[in-house]
Amino acid sequence: MKQTILVTGGTGFIGSHTTVELQNAGYRVVIVDNLSNSQASVVDGIEKITGIRPDFENVDCCDKEALNGVFAKYPDIEGIIHFAASKAVGESVEKPLLYYRNNFVSLINLLELMPQYGVKGIIFSSSCTVYGQPDPENLPVTEKAPIKPAESPYGNTKQVNEEIIRDYINSGAAIKAILLRYFNPIGSHPTSIIGEMPNGVPMNLIPYVTQTAMGIREQLRIFGNDYNTPDGTCIRDYIYVVDLAKAHVKAMARVLDTDSDKLEVFNVGTGKGVSTKELVDAFEKATGVKVNWSYAPRRAGDIEKVWADPKKANDVLGWHAETSLEDTLASAWNWQKKLREEGIQ
Ligand code: WQD
Repeated sequence: MKQTILVTGGTGFIGSHTTVELQNAGYRVVIVDNLSNSQASVVDGIEKITGIRPDFENVDCCDKEALNGVFAKYPDIEGIIHFAASKAVGESVEKPLLYYRNNFVSLINLLELMPQYGVKGIIFSSSCTVYGQPDPENLPVTEKAPIKPAESPYGNTKQVNEEIIRDYINSGAAIKAILLRYFNPIGSHPTSIIGEMPNGVPMNLIPYVTQTAMGIREQLRIFGNDYNTPDGTCIRDYIYVVDLAKAHVKAMARVLDTDSDKLEVFNVGTGKGVSTKELVDAFEKATGVKVNWSYAPRRAGDIEKVWADPKKANDVLGWHAETSLEDTLASAWNWQKKLREEGIQ
């Protein structure tokens, strides 16, 4: 009998790739998404890739009555992966109350409904932003690294949501949870049927690189080349979104396993730090396409350098990032070309 998983934000970038991998692994998936930052056509794409159409409910997780209706309609939901959230760092500084309301209320609604419907486990989409700028001796960063004061309301919602889950479990709630702290998810599905769809001018690096390479953007600005790093540009841990999606399948099996701890935390990264300049060079090498770029002043709020020590996820989840940076960047470029072919971008 297939276990049923509720994926909130399942038509989004990471959510859609994770739904593909969950269905490939034999789970039945129910997607809940309010389409505020994604399109319903992504459901068609997931079906095209896997041959299975996930159930889809156009519901806002902040609407508790509607969310309750989803659990009542699908009473065999055993686990949840919670992606649905507002996630733009800059926007969170301009609209903090929108971020606090959306990101807290959606999670609290889910946590309150879980025991009512016998839902055993939840996987929460967290972020390496909870570490802030790790101290040099804490790089690569492990799950034991100190949590630093958030640099943005967005980052603060990730930290506080982790605490909400921790406090709820410590209060005796009959649920289990796994917190997955992502590093920088990039790339698109190898079929180019689904991928990253930024709204408007991309904030994140990879969509800006591919749109500049496509001629949609005039020039990529590399924010700062005066950091304390080998080439002066920031360092990040860029992880292929499909590898990240597979980490969720491993985590789901574990959170539904009655023998594991009630609350566990895992860093999900490659373990390799790559600078912005190194990434641009790797993109040009992987695709043969030149990127018009220049150095620009630092971007406010940027962390200088952060990359993961993924040993705990490797050993406990039995998960490893498997895809090379070049293949990952080639997938992003193939997706950008697909969007151009379809007249979307
Ligand atoms: C990466 C690097 C920039 C754009 C954020 C969130 C994180 C997660 C991923 C949601 C930085 C540089 C970027 C550009 C550049 N979001 N850059 N020129 O800031 O590491 O992480 O997105 O889960 O929580 O904080 O990602 O892609 O914006 O930047 O030089 O036009 O690329 O300075 O060093 P970031 P990013």
